[in-house]
Amino acid sequence: MNVLVVGGAGYIGSHCIRQLVAAGHRPVVLDNLVYGHRAAVAADIPFYEGNLGDPATVGRILQHEKIELVMHFAAFCYVGESVTAPMKYYENNLVATLRLLATMQLHGVSKFVFSSTCATFGVPDRLPMTEDLPQRPINPYGQTKLDVENVLKALATAHGLSFAVFRYFNAAGAAEDGTIGEDHDPETHLIPLAIDAALGRRPPLQIFGTDYPTPDGTCQRDYVHVDDLSRAHIAIFDRLATPGAQFFYNLGTGRPFSVREIIGAVERITGHKVPVIEAPRRAGDPPALYADSAKARRDLGWSPKFGDAESIIATAWKWHQTHPRGFAS
Ligand code: UFG
Repeated sequence: MNVLVVGGAGYIGSHCIRQLVAAGHRPVVLDNLVYGHRAAVAADIPFYEGNLGDPATVGRILQHEKIELVMHFAAFCYVGESVTAPMKYYENNLVATLRLLATMQLHGVSKFVFSSTCATFGVPDRLPMTEDLPQRPINPYGQTKLDVENVLKALATAHGLSFAVFRYFNAAGAAEDGTIGEDHDPETHLIPLAIDAALGRRPPLQIFGTDYPTPDGTCQRDYVHVDDLSRAHIAIFDRLATPGAQFFYNLGTGRPFSVREIIGAVERITGHKVPVIEAPRRAGDPPALYADSAKARRDLGWSPKFGDAESIIATAWKWHQTHPRGFAS
């Protein structure tokens, strides 16, 4: 299929492009390069620099490239920033996404794959987290993602849009060959910060909260490899042939790892001690989030190839070693 990958120069989008090519599809990238990296996308992939909320640009691409399906990875994703700058999140994650969907409708493109998040659930009623739990986001980031989920349902009913929503848990790791990986500015995620702290490239890692109701007092998360996430996106394609079809999947390994367990794993993989400082809780962090991905396993035959934190961290470590300054290396 001819697939428009919106946000294809970002962390998850760039990994998904590799998988699309490997599966015989033809990806085309739209990215405004605000957070994405041109170097994350191979030179032979059609690349358009522009905004998803610009109907003229998007419309031209849809027509010219004969796009059949759109994958949308282009969101702002800093939970803390979404609380202090909500308009930025509503503008990009919701308003611009509505423009993208309207442009697709105008041009008759009716298949859509959307990156959502476990943050749509807020503090979950139950663990591990199944798709049917109540969604009560506790920050604007999660709310904007949930808003889009709801818009998609309405468009499926009204206009036959067929779509899949993938709710990621903690995306982590890098391509196994070490050529692309995570490069955020600013970086806020635990694994890259712990690796940098281990190498002395950043100050000691702050552990945000040691008094959570978890076995070692630190937050538990479900770290899932970025290539595993990408594979689920492609496994859904056939099911989107039915007009109005809608699918929701929670994607994680189902295994919780605490902040201290991740630090231990980073130390084992890198061979360096991670210097740490115990710090207060970070606002908006639920104590524990981990997935029940039985539905994705059942429907899509999906199972994460990287089932434990160490194997995921090993790929991130390879990327950090070969690209100490990220794509600027
Ligand atoms: N953490 C630290 N110190 C740090 C950074 C993180 O202790 O310097 C802790 C956090 O408190 C959290 C865990 O490590 O308990 C993981 O934090 P990340 O920032 O790596 O990831 P989050 O769980 O906060 O965020 C991820 C995604 C978001 C998504 C969110 C849903 O990156 O996009 O999960 O909760 F919204």
